Amino acid sequence: MTSQTLREARTYEETAEKLISSQERPQFHLSARTGWMNDPNGFSYYQGKYHLFYQYHPYDSHWGPMHWGHAVSEDLLHWEYLPAALAPDERYDQGGCFSGSALMLPDGRQLLMYTGVVMERQKNGEMREVQTQCLAVGNGMDYEKYEQNPVLDETDLPKGASRFDFRDPKMWQKADGTYCCLIGSRPSDGSGQILLYTSKDAFQWKFQNVLCANQNRFGLMWECPDFFALDQKYVLLTSPQDLMPQGLEFHNGNGTLCLIGEYEEATDTFTEECSQSIDYGIDFYAPQTVLSPDGRRIMIGWMQNWDTCSFRASEHSLWYGQMSLPRELRVKNGRLYQQPVRELEQLRSGKTVRQDVAVAGIVQLDGIRGRKVDLELSIRPGDADRMYRKFSIRFAQNESYYTSLSYRPEKSILKIDRKFSGSRRAIIHQRRCQVRDRNGYLKLRLILDRFSVEVFVNDGEQALSATMYTQQEADGILFLAEGDVRMDVVKYCLNE
Ligand code: FRU
Repeated sequence: MTSQTLREARTYEETAEKLISSQERPQFHLSARTGWMNDPNGFSYYQGKYHLFYQYHPYDSHWGPMHWGHAVSEDLLHWEYLPAALAPDERYDQGGCFSGSALMLPDGRQLLMYTGVVMERQKNGEMREVQTQCLAVGNGMDYEKYEQNPVLDETDLPKGASRFDFRDPKMWQKADGTYCCLIGSRPSDGSGQILLYTSKDAFQWKFQNVLCANQNRFGLMWECPDFFALDQKYVLLTSPQDLMPQGLEFHNGNGTLCLIGEYEEATDTFTEECSQSIDYGIDFYAPQTVLSPDGRRIMIGWMQNWDTCSFRASEHSLWYGQMSLPRELRVKNGRLYQQPVRELEQLRSGKTVRQDVAVAGIVQLDGIRGRKVDLELSIRPGDADRMYRKFSIRFAQNESYYTSLSYRPEKSILKIDRKFSGSRRAIIHQRRCQVRDRNGYLKLRLILDRFSVEVFVNDGEQALSATMYTQQEADGILFLAEGDVRMDVVKYCLNE
């Protein structure tokens, strides 16, 4: 039975979305149907379609009581909105239906697990969120909350773990049929840990062990875990809060972390081997993955970040929040590689190729402009005896605005900069990342979609995402070099 609260949300979103024209939204990135969107949830392939749910507050373009928005797609690029799937309408989730995941039950129904939040007054008068895990079962459109919710609460926590930070369950099924679930948690050291729960039927869960403990190495609390096998390794993704910078690898605030290692299934032991950021740009958080029917591990993230939420189109915009491009993941030489899903190639048209272009000073090329663009650049030193000092590309550019990427080969540092992209807020607008040194050779692929840029460096060794909300008329693309650079450019328009 659909509750009054969910019915209201469904009626509201149907009317409110009509006030947003398709021009005001990204073309092929999923944005909030109306109001606010954060984390991707329940990313799954079910009944022939990809399902993507998301943290959703339909009534306002700012965060509020969390619902689950819902969209489906056949190609991960054209999304169709479905009615909101969950609303905070039960005593155990009155404070919100927080992040979670989905899987298919043996009887063909879809199971959602999410975090139910309840505000509780503490002895000192302070209000705190108590978090438990809850289930809902449905048919891909309508979901019924499980009568025995919550299925995991404070009594299922290991010693010392906080009941205020216990969230974002990510489920999967092992080859032997056992259901597993990872949940973000805060142990007594105040940092983060990832708890593993198991179940025979996906309804009754029991604590198994701590899969990974932060021990105050990477920020504090770890949110939104995900875990999977890939290319003979195991990958743990999580989004740490309150990070402190480590060189150019991790930045202050809310960030993303990828741990690659080995996993022994019999004992549920994860042994870490390497760590890195998932995205090196400005706006990326809380990614979640799905296994596609053809065996690809595909990740999608919230293409925003809690620390930069005050950068928005305008206070009057009726939607806030978009997802990143879905990205195909690989592990090579102990690193996570990301590439836009190959389906994106079907949106390409109007190929423009320019080879061996000499760049010294500023260069503008005929036919190379736009805000919905797939642009591949291959750059190299133009003078074998003298390394260039700097190469930049400015895009979303006009007389007043631009966003840029600049590369200095001397230290092999790539910088993304949207300082001149219309922001009136004093927040982070630049970020640097260390790129593998290849003697001045660099490959970049930029995907622009009206309000964002995603950059894939050296065939996916690193990714950088950033939003920008300048007018679409700012569509120029310029190339600049200090010293001599040679470059090859392949550009496509990205359309319906
Ligand atoms: C991460 C997060 C999750 C939580 C959700 C609430 O962005 O804080 O931990 O479930 O957002 O909207």
